Amino acid sequence: MKASKLPAWLHKADLDVLPLAKASTIPASWYVNAEVHEFEMRQLFARSWQLVGEASSLRSPGDFRVEDTAGGPVIALRDKSGELRAFHNVCRHRAGPVAAGSGNCRVLRCRYHGWVYRLDGSLHTAPEIGDVEDFEPGDFGLVPLEIIEESGMLFVAAGAEATIGSLAPENVFARIRERIHPFDPGQLGFYRRDSYDISCNWKVYVDNYLEGYHLPQVHPELNKILSYQDYKTEVFDGYSLQYSDIAQPTDAYSPGQAFYYFIFPNIMLNILPGRMQTNVVLPLGHDRCRVVFDYYYEDIISEAARTKIAEDISFGDLVQKQDIDICEQVQKGLACGVYERGRLSVKREHGVHHFQNMLRDAYSRGA
Ligand code: FES
Ligand SMILES: [Fe+2]
Repeated sequence: MKASKLPAWLHKADLDVLPLAKASTIPASWYVNAEVHEFEMRQLFARSWQLVGEASSLRSPGDFRVEDTAGGPVIALRDKSGELRAFHNVCRHRAGPVAAGSGNCRVLRCRYHGWVYRLDGSLHTAPEIGDVEDFEPGDFGLVPLEIIEESGMLFVAAGAEATIGSLAPENVFARIRERIHPFDPGQLGFYRRDSYDISCNWKVYVDNYLEGYHLPQVHPELNKILSYQDYKTEVFDGYSLQYSDIAQPTDAYSPGQAFYYFIFPNIMLNILPGRMQTNVVLPLGHDRCRVVFDYYYEDIISEAARTKIAEDISFGDLVQKQDIDICEQVQKGLACGVYERGRLSVKREHGVHHFQNMLRDAYSRGA
């Protein structure tokens, strides 16, 4: 990156990657500045893999679903030949949505003026377009995205060259599957989706996710279940893992291990015996984000399983509200002008350091 090209808010020294013991956190301005948010939307989220949701939602030809991803509005579908496809959900006429919600369809009809697209994204008809000069319908197909199915989930990205760190997503998931074997996320059933709107920058939520340091203070109930002393963090190219034994199993938490995966920049997989939650952190503005939870379980049918699921979700909701409360207070602390940057615990904040270094790298490449 040429220094002359740095945006005014981005100081070269803040991009330096130092060992954890010497490192400072990223500066407060990166959490509170609307220009940084705009920069991240363009340079980070528009280029990264985004989790759309459960793959079982697109079983049959014609099945589609629309999602707001951090990279923009997306439609994912299974075309007539059974192939998965994804497009920006943006009509080439005047940017209307070509679909909403989910369902099964034969064509995509824009909800604004009714232009019709085939399931391969090509424009079929532009009603009443009349004698527009130099209008080639072939030039007005929907803008495609890459889409893959991985471990029972759908992921999209703009551009075949998108990676997670320097790895293709299938390589990241191969490593994760190997690590958590015999647990197999692809065998789980999708149960439901919840979402939480939070008054903090998306990075505050991610930083908070990436350390167990706050467990004793913020989550006394969860801290009784997990093994704080043995809580470990491992970092990899493009992703990280925190794990702990479940020291005190409960009705909702069976004996075994808890694995908390973070996939840069905004995907989390929370894996416990018999269940997985995925979290996607959607940046909504410099001081707002939405966290979307999808719940998957080995058994979503039996009555005993349903009781356990209800306990799991209600306990998860308690933990989430504790995290929301602390994150919203941190955002206020970052925004009030007295805090510039802090230092990190060598013992407990390895994952935060790793995330912030990936961010520094992404900013460097994007600037
Ligand atoms: S914006 Fe889609 S038909 Fe007009
Ligand atoms: Fe937490």
